[in-house]
Amino acid sequence: MDEARDSVAELPLARFLARCHAEFSRDQSGEVASYIPELALANPAHFGIAVTTVDGYVYEIGDSTVEFTIQSISKAFVFALALETVGAERVESIVGVEPSGDAFNSIRLGSDNRPFNPMVNAGAIACTGLICEREQDGAFDWLLQALSRFAGRRLEVDEPTFRSERESGDRNRAIAYLLRNHGVLQGDVDQVLDVYFRQCALRVSARDLSVMAATLAHKGRNPLTGEQVVSSYAVARTLSVMTSSGMYDSAGRWVYRVGIPAKSGVGGGIVASLPSQLGLGTYSPLIDDQGNSVRGLRTCEALSTHFGLHMLNRVGDVRTCIAASYDVGSVSSRRSRPPREQAILEAHHGEGAILELTGALSFGNIEYISRRISNLRSGLRYLILDFIHGRGGHASAPQLVVDPLVVAAEIITALQTVVARSVDPLTPAVVSCTEIHRDGTRNAIPTDVVITGDLELERSADLSEQELLSGLDAADMTALQELLVERNYRTGERLISAGEPAASLMFVAGGIVSVRLQSGVRLATLSAGMAVGEMALLETARSADVWADTKVVCLELALDAFARFRASHPRAGEKIMANLARLLARRLIVANNKIEVLASY
Ligand code: DON
Repeated sequence: MDEARDSVAELPLARFLARCHAEFSRDQSGEVASYIPELALANPAHFGIAVTTVDGYVYEIGDSTVEFTIQSISKAFVFALALETVGAERVESIVGVEPSGDAFNSIRLGSDNRPFNPMVNAGAIACTGLICEREQDGAFDWLLQALSRFAGRRLEVDEPTFRSERESGDRNRAIAYLLRNHGVLQGDVDQVLDVYFRQCALRVSARDLSVMAATLAHKGRNPLTGEQVVSSYAVARTLSVMTSSGMYDSAGRWVYRVGIPAKSGVGGGIVASLPSQLGLGTYSPLIDDQGNSVRGLRTCEALSTHFGLHMLNRVGDVRTCIAASYDVGSVSSRRSRPPREQAILEAHHGEGAILELTGALSFGNIEYISRRISNLRSGLRYLILDFIHGRGGHASAPQLVVDPLVVAAEIITALQTVVARSVDPLTPAVVSCTEIHRDGTRNAIPTDVVITGDLELERSADLSEQELLSGLDAADMTALQELLVERNYRTGERLISAGEPAASLMFVAGGIVSVRLQSGVRLATLSAGMAVGEMALLETARSADVWADTKVVCLELALDAFARFRASHPRAGEKIMANLARLLARRLIVANNKIEVLASY
């Protein structure tokens, strides 16, 4: 455990944050805010940094769990919540999105008598007013719960700071009355300010801020709890305003030098959120004369410069979205098939192509794939788009991605059908499958369908169909049959466990089984007419698990029984071993083809 922690401390980001913390701790510039008397009590030595990645890993250094009041940082999240609940039209009718060039507490509205943006006090109070209009007396409880969902834990109000700001908050009262005078704020000014002061007095840590920022970076889904807190629509608009107005007067310099949407608070916190990458939270109560934490600013700037995080400095190669491209004939699927089914497939091999697509598909990726599709050879009848995704990826092929690709596919003469499949690479099972026809109609199809249609997957098979037994005469068959013991398995039951001694092989007489590694990765799927555990003829231990995907009937042949059979029927025994060699050789060819296809990318 300690060893694991030590190795985490050695990670590049952990080392970098530790260096920033050590170096910037020495910077004593800035002052603790005192215009709200309670804030003046903060310890100027406190300094914490936390980074949460979009897959939910938290890096922390220094006073990352020390709590302080969120202050203006709440404005970004309340704006997102207002967009989400009240709707963009209403929100935009009362607050603008232009940088003000003024201090955060300026008592000035734009020429249209609306606040400049939701990040200055006037705009933030207006947004809180919208929540109050909607939630009435329950407004603060509602906000508390919603902000807690961003943080992934229940936040609490710092009562002394709340009272301190309420007692000293005449400037905000002036702003609120001005807003009511212009019809921006409706209802009771004191009630709205009460909610606003409470939201500013919520206690958070740098760690909490990093999780909240990571929730924005993760399109509104909290990476620790998995909860979708707001929509990606609200997130994109919130990050836009954070970019242009989150750091007040220094917004221009901030975008220029750091280029990460951010928001600061006079309590000493900063959140910064880089979409699809990370959320950063810092805490140091020494602030500059614009209300931004000095050490926090330096941390953001150093992190952005060192790791090239500027949002306009993105990396990526559109070509990496195609994991592999091949003909159905050159690489067969992981389903092993009895000869009869194999023959049908071979007759149609040239008609189908497969594109394995990976990762989240952006405009650039889709454009690239569409060009690759339009260059596929003519004469294809089927194109299978396999969307290989990891956990948390898109659950099914999204229409926005598929539609342009279908248009590209239509360029190819004779192409009748595009099949969009979502594949989980861990299992790897096909999660969803949609058939899209030239005329635009689409229908969901069974995930196991191949280009020749469904091939009676769950039928039962006679022993004579077993490829391992091909060439045996009737007398051999009868003798062997007497040695077999019928075994029945329920769906989900394990027939064979990796690592166990290999003492028998099984002929599948009915149902479907899959061969999997212990990691869960599926190596093959087999149906009636095929054998599993046949490696027992060569190896002493089982090399993989075998699971029943449906109700399964098998005929088990114990190795010692087979040894007796070989002694009494040497020619038949030799045929079985030769059949085994042929089966294994075919599997090797398939595996080599797949390696070749993957290696060419
Ligand atoms: O409205 C106020 O004055 C405070 N509750 C929040 C101000 C704040 O954090 C400004 N940010 N830098």
